[in-house]
Amino acid sequence: MNRLINDRPPPYRAVIAGCGSFVPAKILTNDDLAKMVDTSDEWITTRTGIKVRHITTDSETTAFLATEAAKKALADAKIDPSELELIIVATITPEMVFPSTASFVQRSLQAKKAWVFDLCAACSGFIYSLSIVQQFLESGRFKNALVIGAETLTKITDWTDRTSCILFGDGAGAVVLERSNDTRKGILYSTMASDGDYWEALNCQAYGSRYPAGKELDSPRKIYMEIKGREVYQQAVRRIVETVTECLQACSLTLDDIGMLISHQMNGRIIESAAKRLKLPDEKVFINIAEYGNTSAASVPIAFDGCVKQGKIKQGDIVIFVAFGAGLTWGANVIQF
Ligand code: UT7
Repeated sequence: MNRLINDRPPPYRAVIAGCGSFVPAKILTNDDLAKMVDTSDEWITTRTGIKVRHITTDSETTAFLATEAAKKALADAKIDPSELELIIVATITPEMVFPSTASFVQRSLQAKKAWVFDLCAACSGFIYSLSIVQQFLESGRFKNALVIGAETLTKITDWTDRTSCILFGDGAGAVVLERSNDTRKGILYSTMASDGDYWEALNCQAYGSRYPAGKELDSPRKIYMEIKGREVYQQAVRRIVETVTECLQACSLTLDDIGMLISHQMNGRIIESAAKRLKLPDEKVFINIAEYGNTSAASVPIAFDGCVKQGKIKQGDIVIFVAFGAGLTWGANVIQF
């Protein structure tokens, strides 16, 4: 496990200065899905907690969603794009093979001063990105950064596979972080981990160097996401519990100190089960999966934005972001507001 805790207070903290999110207008309900595959609203609701998900039209791309979320976060932080020094887009559904989705966001925002890149860590991408930004801001190298989680998962969804097509949605969430001298707030701790042995549990195999676009695929389904739901479910609960426990120990916090746990929204039952094992009360666990489904790297920042807009996070609160996903990857950030 890659621990990033400091054994002495850093001269600077990475503080969240603003947030925003954006989802496409088009909605797909469970009843809509029941007309496409052998499923029902009752099955999907009971097994996942999902009621609807937002889906992109052909013209709505990942960079478009990312830019819209970014504009809202920048407005919230009152920072002009021309001042940005770093942009990271966490995504597994990029605009194209290259250049990065972040390049398109930079262009749309005219954030000329920023250096930009994409980060591919699936559902943990936003957590990993915050951990990276934490290093640059704490070291004093940069004054600010924009981190976006953006996905168009429905473009790689197999709409004939009932075990996966019910789960995913599209959207983007963003935060602007600033360097601060106030060491009583900001990112207190980050942890990241991964285990490539389990890459087959969640994947989308075409089109990379193993299955290039120019060659015929041995299975046409390789252009879609494939999941081993049960396997992921069990690992997810275990890793979330382990990771949050590690955060509490590393920061010398108790459960009472946590204001809110904002988990990647992969399945309402996974989050509830992890929260139960951690003995966290319902009011300290934010769940919005009913409205969005699983939006991978976008899910934590969309949930965070919702939580802030609903007034559920106050100044001084300790919030834990936690995620688990393909790779396998997992990680968490502890943040004081
Ligand atoms: O962010 C990381 C990515 N997220 C994930 O990978 C999701 C993690 N896993 C999950 O959320 C859950 O495992 C699922 C929601 C995917 C599945 O729920 P489950 O309770 O683990 O169901 P299961 O896979 O054990 O399947 C139970 C039954 C099976 O039928 P039989 O074999 O018992 O007759 C499935 O064929 O449910 C059937 N089933 C469905 N039935 C109605 C699977 N999908 C559906 C469906 N509608 N959509």
